[in-house]
This record gives sequence, structure tokens and C-alpha cells, in this order.
Amino acid sequence: MYNLNGRTAFLTGGSSGITLGIAEKYAKEGMNIVLLARNEDKLAAAKTIIEGHGAKCVAIPADVRDAEAMEGAFQIAASHFGEINVIVAGAAGNFLAMAKDLKPKGFKTVMDIDAGGVFNTYHAGFQHLARPGGCLIAISAPQATIPYPAQIHANAAKAAIDQIVRTLAVEWGPLGVRSLGISPGPIADTEGMARLAPTPKALEQAARAPVLKRLGTKDEVADLAAFLASDHASYITGTIIPCDGGLGLVGLAGLGG
Ligand code: COA
Repeated sequence: MYNLNGRTAFLTGGSSGITLGIAEKYAKEGMNIVLLARNEDKLAAAKTIIEGHGAKCVAIPADVRDAEAMEGAFQIAASHFGEINVIVAGAAGNFLAMAKDLKPKGFKTVMDIDAGGVFNTYHAGFQHLARPGGCLIAISAPQATIPYPAQIHANAAKAAIDQIVRTLAVEWGPLGVRSLGISPGPIADTEGMARLAPTPKALEQAARAPVLKRLGTKDEVADLAAFLASDHASYITGTIIPCDGGLGLVGLAGLGG
């Protein structure tokens, strides 16, 4: 449907959640898949899922905070599949902590994983990226524009990611590379929701926040990621597209609804 057959995608944070959902969609579309994540057990399980869809898959254990490891990871990916067509920067970390209680180390940790990780991924991936034709997709979040309490670290990091998306659209657009973001709202069955809405009451409140009054699904985000990676989106760059049930329209007010 999206004509992605035979292309290669490199996904960070690809062993679980939204980004694994995207990897599965890409695998079903016939893409070669490179998964990078920290936890080797989760990575091995994810590789099995991807191969179950009939795709070739290389799984690389690494931390996106380690710039040198990211260089090595792209070399491994390129040795298997040649040039990379799509990079999905999905690795992220988050937890709830009010600003006055958050240690500077906690703030730095999330900035380093989220914003620093996206930079390290794209910086290392650049020389292996198809030019022209390459596509970058960063997983942002409503936190980039909505100042959620107890998430000063993620709010700041996701805002930084949005500017990375726009800056690379400007710098690499002339080379034929598109740079995009996806901002998923509350998505069911993800580690993010488990961390941010850990009780049934909190989950119900999260589901009521978007104007569509429900949680999204990983498939809904994956469909958007497939469209953005495809030639159907060939004139779209430098923008962060919400897949949030309209959460961004109501922001913090949605939490009261
Ligand atoms: N509340 C407050 N501060 C916290 C915290 C919490 N629940 N968890 C971590 N921190 C702070 C602490 O300051 C901690 O250092 P300290 O314990 O020495 O004070 C610092 O963050 C680093 O935490 P650590 O667990 O050592 O880092 P890590 O690199 O192993 O893990 C996290 C990174 C903290 C982001 C972890 O939650 C993680 O790995 N998350 C990935 C998965 C995820 O969050 N997915 C959802 C994305 S939306």
C-alpha cells in the first residue's frame, strides 16, 4: 500500500511500545528492519516478532546516549542492508516528578536520552542515510507544547526534539532528506502510559483528555509513520504531526474533562 518494500528502517527504542508498533508495520510493508535498544532480552523478543512478519531484522543493543556506540550501530546496519531509507528516533525516558523534587541528575538523564539521543542518532545516521530520499521521524509528544506538571524534564526534552526536527529539515532538505515528527497522544498498552497513568483512575482520566475521548492505538501511530516514510508524503517536511485524538487542542484543560 505504501510502496516501502525493500527499503530499510533503523528504529531506536524499537524493542517495545509505539516504536515497535511502527517497526511491525514497516516489516509488514516489506522493509528491512534494524532495531536498537538497551535491553537485550526485550530486543531479542522484538526481533522474533519482526521476523514473524517475514522481514529481515538486525537487533543492536546500545544506548542512544553513547555517541560512539551509535556510530558503530549504523555501521553494522549498513553492512547488512546498505543505505538507510528511514530513521525513526523513538527512544525515550520519562517518570513523574515535581520540579522541586527532581534532582538535576534526573533532569539531565531525560534530556540526554530524549533530546541528546535524537541528535546522536541522526548525527551518526547521516552518512548512511539515503540522500536524496531519506526520511527522519522523531517521536515527539504533546509535552513539547503542553507544560504538564511533574514532567519538566520531558516537557523540555520534547520541545528540544521538535526544534531538532525543524532544524534538520532546513539543513538537510536541500539534500533531499525529509525531517518529521509524530506527536502521539495517550496510546494504549505502552510503557509510557503505564508510567504516567499507573492506576485505573489515572488511565481513565488520560482516556478522557483528548477531544475524541479515548486512548489511541499503536496501529494508528504506525499508519501515520508508514505514510510519512512513503513517497505519498514526499512534499512534507519540517513539521510535527499530532496523532493525539485532538489532545493538543485542549491541552491541560483536557485533564479536567
Ligand atoms: N522519580 C524521580 N527521579 C527519578 C526517577 C523517579 N521515578 N527515576 C529516575 N530518576 C532520576 C534520579 O535522579 C536518578 O538518579 P539517582 O537515582 O542517582 O538520583 C536519575 O534519574 C537517573 O536514573 P537511572 O534509573 O539511573 O537512569 P537510567 O538511565 O537507568 O534510566 C530513566 C532512565 C530514569 C528515564 C528510566 O525511567 C528509563 O530507563 N526509562 C525508559 C523507558 C521509559 O521511560 N519509557 C517511557 C517513555 S514515555
